[in-house]
Amino acid sequence: MVPLLLAVVVVVMLLPVSLCFPHAVSSNSSVAGVVGVTYAMNTPGLPHPKKVVEALVAAGVTRVLLVDPYPDGVAAFNNTDIVLTIAINNSYIQSLATNVTMTFLWLGDNIILPNIKIEAISVGYDVFSSENLHLAGDLLQAIQNLHEGMSEILQGNISITTANSFDLITPAFPPSAAEFNRSVAELYLRPLLQFLDGAGFPFFISLYPFKLYRAGAILGENTGIAAFEYAEGQHLTDPKTGLVYYNIFDAMVDATVAAMAKLGYADVPLVVSGTGWPSEGGLNEPEASILYAGEYNEGLVSKLNMRLGTPARPETTPVTFIYALFDDPRETGAESERNWGIWTMDMQQKYVIDFTPSKASGGRTTSSLHRSAVAAVTAFVLLCLA
Ligand SMILES: *[C@@H]1O[C@H](CO)[C@@H](O)[C@H](O)[C@H]1NC(C)=O
Ligand SMILES: *[C@@H]1O[C@H](CO)[C@@H](O)[C@H](O)[C@H]1NC(C)=O
Ligand SMILES: *[C@@H]1O[C@H](CO)[C@@H](O)[C@H](O)[C@H]1NC(C)=O
Ligand SMILES: *[C@@H]1O[C@H](CO)[C@@H](O)[C@H](O)[C@H]1NC(C)=O
Ligand SMILES: *[C@@H]1O[C@H](CO)[C@@H](O)[C@H](O)[C@H]1NC(C)=O
Ligand SMILES: *[C@@H]1O[C@H](CO)[C@@H](O)[C@H](O)[C@H]1NC(C)=O
Repeated sequence: MVPLLLAVVVVVMLLPVSLCFPHAVSSNSSVAGVVGVTYAMNTPGLPHPKKVVEALVAAGVTRVLLVDPYPDGVAAFNNTDIVLTIAINNSYIQSLATNVTMTFLWLGDNIILPNIKIEAISVGYDVFSSENLHLAGDLLQAIQNLHEGMSEILQGNISITTANSFDLITPAFPPSAAEFNRSVAELYLRPLLQFLDGAGFPFFISLYPFKLYRAGAILGENTGIAAFEYAEGQHLTDPKTGLVYYNIFDAMVDATVAAMAKLGYADVPLVVSGTGWPSEGGLNEPEASILYAGEYNEGLVSKLNMRLGTPARPETTPVTFIYALFDDPRETGAESERNWGIWTMDMQQKYVIDFTPSKASGGRTTSSLHRSAVAAVTAFVLLCLA
């Protein structure tokens, strides 16, 4: 296996790029909906990826963020219209940062398959918290290396970015007052945003209102447990902007926008790389329930599909990935951590989410992952090598 891969990599590197990728096409993600799901492919006990992909197509899912993808799993998306975002395992970051050959190995091994549409690569997934600041340099270097490797091959049509945690934003509320943790901002976020801005790639943020409830950090008002919309008659008004928030998701998105703006990068497109709600939890986690999970995820998806944007950016609805397609028994910590899936392992929907984008013509513009509106790419390396 490894010698073959090495051969593939060597051949790819020796062939002139223009010869090797004559048929690469840029297709168009305006057909993809604004909502996707995250799918951790190597979770034990899952059905075969082919079965999963069939079910995703049947459910109308058009975007998937693959966590820990492996080649056969990626191949299951062959010839579908599903547009993929690939999350590279955090454990590869250091090698990607130090050895560019690894980049090509990884790409040849996992990514560049015929008829697979990839719009973005996330180098790691929620890698970065205030505890592992030492990874900042490697993460930025890994992104640069991958970008350089990819730019020859795919001319920038795949966004290279990384998924960040909302924990980096502090304070977060009211949204207009939000800013990134200042020490992390200088060391990591400013250079990251500078890179993304230059390349036209999106900033990825994972945000979990559930965690704010659990931490008791939710906004001043007594909101009760209104998983998605605030309870009737309740809302958050941003005292500075006067903007009114009816759900916490919007407030968190606008907080992220405000934090980016404070570093001078208001125009970098935003993608929500993970959000969701657990359907089950421990005795001390009454908010983790199928009722609230359904309320949050159904409410969120139906709102996103209407493409009404957020109060601060009404013209832009962020592409948003629901975390997660399946429960993950490997997660440690609180009971709820293992129960974020929207489907059971035998692919029953725990509650029914309607992924079908609204046909209403009044829907406003959505963001594509690229500012240049370039989208999915189909590459033909293997054809070229055949
Ligand atoms: C993208 O797809 C839509 C819907 O199929 C089509 O109307 C539009 O012309 C396409 N745009 C490009 C640039 O191909
Ligand atoms: C991803 O990394 C974790 C540890 O960092 C490891 O347990 C897991 O097996 C890795 N997954 C893949 C597909 O390499
Ligand atoms: C994808 O499908 C094509 C046929 O349309 C086939 O030739 C190719 O081998 C498939 N690729 C993978 C990676 O399964
Ligand atoms: C980079 O990685 C490749 C493939 O794993 C390996 O053959 C090579 O020796 C590495 N180079 C360095 C400088 O570590
Ligand atoms: C910001 O990050 C630094 C460095 O990790 C950390 O020590 C500090 O507690 C963080 N500040 C806040 C307000 O979270
Ligand atoms: C990248 O996108 C541009 C603009 O849509 C397109 O002209 C070009 O052919 C694409 N390149 C590849 C390799 O897909």
